[in-house]
Amino acid sequence: MRTYLVTGGAGFIGSNYIHYMFRKYGEQIRIINVDALTYAGNLENLKAVEELPNYTFVKADICDKEAIAKIFAENDIDRVVHFAAESHVDRSIRNPEVFVQTNVLGTAVMLNCAKAAWELPDGTFKEGKKFLHVSTDEVYGSLEEDGTYFYETTPYDPHSPYSASKASSDMLVKAYMDTYKFPANITNCSNNYGPYQFPEKLIPLIINNALNGKKLPVYGDGKNVRDWLFVEDHAKAIDMVQEQGRLFETYNVGGHNEKQNIEIINIILETLQEMLPDSDPRKALVSKDLITYVADRKGHDRRYAIAPDKIKAEIGWYPETMFKDGIKKTIAWYFENEDWMKNVTSGDYQKYYNEMYK
Ligand code: NAD
Ligand code: DAU
Repeated sequence: MRTYLVTGGAGFIGSNYIHYMFRKYGEQIRIINVDALTYAGNLENLKAVEELPNYTFVKADICDKEAIAKIFAENDIDRVVHFAAESHVDRSIRNPEVFVQTNVLGTAVMLNCAKAAWELPDGTFKEGKKFLHVSTDEVYGSLEEDGTYFYETTPYDPHSPYSASKASSDMLVKAYMDTYKFPANITNCSNNYGPYQFPEKLIPLIINNALNGKKLPVYGDGKNVRDWLFVEDHAKAIDMVQEQGRLFETYNVGGHNEKQNIEIINIILETLQEMLPDSDPRKALVSKDLITYVADRKGHDRRYAIAPDKIKAEIGWYPETMFKDGIKKTIAWYFENEDWMKNVTSGDYQKYYNEMYK
């Protein structure tokens, strides 16, 4: 039985990955999920797996060397999948330090503890051990609207404190691979959407606001482009890279699905109108009149677009979910999980929202 140490598994992508892995491998794997449960971590995301005998949750900060070393000492970890991070660009602009702490120092602690647990006296590593660092396309900077793409060879050019901290963490992983031949891979993925995404991010924020008849804030001219990928496709890519990818390689993961923010908002509004029954009082609230142009994000990257050619050619992964289907699945999930949304938008979220959008 293979043992996974997943960091940040109570967040959006981490929890979707854990569900995906149990659906795929069932009792053949064991997952230990280590998460500090920041505002973005939510054990509700893992209700369906929490009783499984092959699932364990450990509440710990990845910057806490002793806590992480203890997990490695007490378990024979075969795979690390490292999601834990501060992930929201707007928060990084307001408060950069915690991004450096978690994303850079936390990654250093994870690398060091894995290295200490897996290294043999001759400096090689135990057979079959692998570390996957989950990163972002934002490390490559911003593209013009000229049809060019981010490739694995594109030079790093991060702009926000978030992307700078992720770029730094990628560099640390690269340094471990180059210096120690540490068995790792890096994936750089585009914007994810799907169930369990915290409503500070564009898609769940727009769904939630529209259903409540609240303004829909569009930064700048609304024409910034992101490349949207359904989160289950990302989970599948991570597993395929770890099992079939060449060690020490970076793989870009993307949706081949570029859309302007304003297009995304219009699609959400149209899909909500289509999916809500006439008897639902929220249907009357959902309206394009809610769209409100607000001040632009500082240093707002214009366009991201991944060319997932390498992962397709070497591993056979491609984005399977069409956006029109993925967005319906996502909206259906938010309809079915109204309590989840109520819980995460109470308390601190209101404070964040009022400060951010005042
Ligand atoms: P998220 O913010 O939803 O979840 C982050 C998780 O990490 C939370 O459960 C949080 O509690 C945990 N965490 C934060 N600080 C921690 C710490 N110090 N110790 C332990 N746990 C901590 O993020 P997400 O959107 O699921 O992103 C996961 C990873 O994927 C991140 O590394 C992010 O950079 C990367 N990524 C995200 C996207 C995207 O579109 N969301 C795209 C590409 C890459
Ligand atoms: O590209 C991958 C990255 O995608 C990940 O690394 C990040 O963790 C993830 O948060 C995401 O970053 P973005 O900044 O692209 O995502 P966000 O949902 O915050 O914003 C998407 C776009 O929508 C962006 O151009 C800003 C815009 N936006 C966002 C919000 C929250 C608005 O216009 N209004 C809003 O209220």
